[in-house]
Amino acid sequence: MIGRLNHVAIAVRDIAKAAAVYRDTLGAQVSEQVQQPAHGVTTVFITLPNTKIELLEPLGEGSPIAKFLERNPEGGIHHLCYEVDDIRAARDALQAKGARVLGDGEPKIGAHGKPVLFLHPKDFFGTLVELEQA
Ligand code: CO
Repeated sequence: MIGRLNHVAIAVRDIAKAAAVYRDTLGAQVSEQVQQPAHGVTTVFITLPNTKIELLEPLGEGSPIAKFLERNPEGGIHHLCYEVDDIRAARDALQAKGARVLGDGEPKIGAHGKPVLFLHPKDFFGTLVELEQA
């Protein structure tokens, strides 16, 4: 059911510093910072030949990554994003197999402007999984 790995997301405290490390130390192609108030994060996308890295910094009060950074003060891998062809069909098939979808279960428009859902990390070996309609 799942397709390509769309991105690996890394939560960081200082996105400018993290972007500079990816650009200057690792020599990667790094986007501008984009504030996403609806998602409570600032994002930078790093484009690799076969996938992307999404850097996330908390934005505003109650950011969904604030608790993660309390537990992981140095930052860390926050989620993996897999592509699916039809996000509602994927959700229904996953729920039928007992996987838990976070929130109200309805796809939301994510950081790439495409519908996304998140799956409970306890159902996937401690890894938060994002599904994005390709
Ligand atoms: Co993501």
